[in-house]
Amino acid sequence: MTRASPAPFTGRGPALPPLRRTISVGIIGLGTVGTGTVKVLVEHQRELERRLGWKLQLKTICSRSIHKRDLSWLRQPVNTTRDWRQVVADPKVDIVVELVDELRTARAIANAALGAGKNLVTANKQLVAEHGVELVERSQAAGVNLGIEACVAGGTPVLHAIREGLAAENFVAVYGILNGTTNYILTEMERRGCDFREALAEAQEKGYAEPDPTFDVEGYDARYKVAILSMLCFGQPARVADIPVEGITRIDRVDFAYAHRLNHTIRLIAAARRQKADRLEIFVRPMIISQRAQLASVLGAANGILLVGNKGGNTMITGRGAGGEATAVAVLSDVVEIGRAMAAGGGSTTPLGYTTWHPARSAPWGENVIAAYLRLVVRDQPGILARVCAVLARHRINIDSVLQEPGLTKKHLPFVMTLEPMREKLVRRAVSDIARLPFLAAPPLLLPFADLP
Ligand SMILES: NC(=O)c1ccc[n+]([C@@H]2O[C@H](COP(=O)([O-])OP(=O)(O)OC[C@H]3O[C@@H](n4cnc5c(N)ncnc54)[C@H](OP(=O)(O)O)[C@@H]3O)[C@@H](O)[C@H]2O)c1
Repeated sequence: MTRASPAPFTGRGPALPPLRRTISVGIIGLGTVGTGTVKVLVEHQRELERRLGWKLQLKTICSRSIHKRDLSWLRQPVNTTRDWRQVVADPKVDIVVELVDELRTARAIANAALGAGKNLVTANKQLVAEHGVELVERSQAAGVNLGIEACVAGGTPVLHAIREGLAAENFVAVYGILNGTTNYILTEMERRGCDFREALAEAQEKGYAEPDPTFDVEGYDARYKVAILSMLCFGQPARVADIPVEGITRIDRVDFAYAHRLNHTIRLIAAARRQKADRLEIFVRPMIISQRAQLASVLGAANGILLVGNKGGNTMITGRGAGGEATAVAVLSDVVEIGRAMAAGGGSTTPLGYTTWHPARSAPWGENVIAAYLRLVVRDQPGILARVCAVLARHRINIDSVLQEPGLTKKHLPFVMTLEPMREKLVRRAVSDIARLPFLAAPPLLLPFADLP
């Protein structure tokens, strides 16, 4: 038998079939992400086409104020419209990219696009967290595809990693730093020893925080994102409103001083993890984490996600969580994936990683066991420690350590107790009793330790 000799190496790769068809994209919303997406598409167009094997055409762009915009930098003919319905109704548009800022409009666009048999890419985390299953079912009924990568961690491709690279994993937990604003504030408080207000003002000046920062600093943004991560990891959609959330506004610079004495730090952790009897514990809350934990190395406005699987162990992904061009890469990666599916003959994939879902079975609140950091601010007087210890003893909670920084004012004296593991609802009962003690100068702050790798 004779063997065919290998083709000589040319460095050009196998001959590509000619670009057979054009994929046309319509982009609705030209704010931070929309403008970034248009720019990256135009700048990377040839590379995107080489990856896709088809021509990629920016067919239409849409925003209500498009007539006021200078689009001279576009340097290619593109239809413009103020009416998103025209994008959806255009028979030449294959993929509708929805990048508006408001849920009702985003949902209307999504439903209209899928109803018209268009592929859809969206960056709206609230839409996907609250209506993701419904959107997937609609896209499957229409035989089209749905791209959602930009909804979590902006330019960090965590959803693809969970859905594709780790599709055979049985996840134990996912932990994330999912909000760049809060991580910037916390890591600046830590680095410079400044207080929350100062770090927030600086984040607003740099454009990391909105003028009204509530959505970020109270943890709501991270809650939508962890709801999506949880769906992809466990196939159990949770009601977003049922996910407990706590923000970072009560963290003080002194908490970093105490956390450092314990070789720990503080981060806003969004987590979903499997507890006993296949129940899920999902939450967003500030936690005390070891300085050696992988998530402690996520600094500034970055995002980081730690995936814990029962076979592959820990997979950590970090990167940019927001910003026009970083998020545009996620949006356009979805466009490429959808384009590839079209090139392969169509059919819809499973953007949420599952084809069937079970309603989330939540772990009952307060039954989780936590070791905790308790910061009390008191008007100093004799016998304080004894009275706090008596309350803890009454609730059968053991104290692990007591810390007090030197040189603090006696009228407003913060000190810290670390508590041994105990069911959270019992710890909370004890803390609400402590909050009623007459010498407390501020409400107690309770932060659980997160036992992270
Ligand atoms: N910013 C980020 O870094 C980031 C990261 C990840 C995900 N996301 C998500 O991406 C989406 C877009 O965010 P963004 O920051 O780019 O918002 P944005 O800067 O506020 O821009 C929103 C755009 O939508 C347009 N728009 C609103 N209603 C419209 C309508 N009825 N018809 C046509 N256009 C309309 C607005 O322009 P007109 O007023 O001119 O119509 C504007 O161009 C949101 O879902 C957001 O959560 C953002």
